[in-house]
Amino acid sequence: WEKAAVSMTFLLPFFSAEVCGALNVTVSPGPVVDYLEGDNATLYCHVSQKRRRDSLLAVRWLFALPGSQETLMIKMTKLRVVQYYGNYSRSANRRRLRLLEERRGALYRLSVLTLRPADQGHYICKVQEISRHRNKWTAWSNGSSATEMRGIKVSYEKIFQY
Ligand SMILES: *[C@@H]1O[C@H](CO)[C@@H](O)[C@H](O)[C@H]1NC(C)=O
Ligand SMILES: *[C@@H]1O[C@H](CO)[C@@H](O)[C@H](O)[C@H]1NC(C)=O
Ligand SMILES: *[C@@H]1O[C@H](CO)[C@@H](O)[C@H](O)[C@H]1NC(C)=O
Ligand SMILES: *[C@@H]1O[C@H](CO)[C@@H](O)[C@H](O)[C@H]1NC(C)=O
Repeated sequence: WEKAAVSMTFLLPFFSAEVCGALNVTVSPGPVVDYLEGDNATLYCHVSQKRRRDSLLAVRWLFALPGSQETLMIKMTKLRVVQYYGNYSRSANRRRLRLLEERRGALYRLSVLTLRPADQGHYICKVQEISRHRNKWTAWSNGSSATEMRGIKVSYEKIFQY
């Protein structure tokens, strides 16, 4: 059983034009990465320029098909609890997603295991900076960045192997 050649293209991460002082959020790799179907994809969300040293981050990854609405896939809460949403909370999909904090407050890794053609689309990392202020959780700043996986093709060979 041969793996069908699948290519995933990551477009350059784009910066949301936010006011000075916003979190600097970038998604890598980019601009282009190729995978085979069945491979594991790894996306990194880099965060810098926090407003406050003691703040915590809530990290969300969203998915969107081109021209469609974004849907929340997975979130790491400020207390670092990982939550799954929508279709991604079903156990079969859940097992294919990992969200890890690689460097505290700075680097978050999303792995999508065993890639399928349906995984192509936009992946958006949204980060919110939160801290306790006067006994209340307060959001200080936000940042967001997106990357696109596309070009995943299932060859005819693959289709006829089923
Ligand atoms: C993908 O990751 C899983 C879990 O870490 C591992 O068991 C598997 O061998 C990996 N597959 C590939 C193609 O690297
Ligand atoms: C934002 O962070 C990235 C790396 O994560 C860096 O390359 C880039 O220069 C930073 N942008 C600004 C405006 O500091
Ligand atoms: C969830 O799965 C259903 C059925 O496969 C599909 O119609 C729907 O678009 C999916 N929703 C999301 C958010 O992926
Ligand atoms: C950050 O985004 C959240 C949700 O989109 C919003 O409620 C909040 O006001 C934003 N906070 C700042 C400081 O931009």
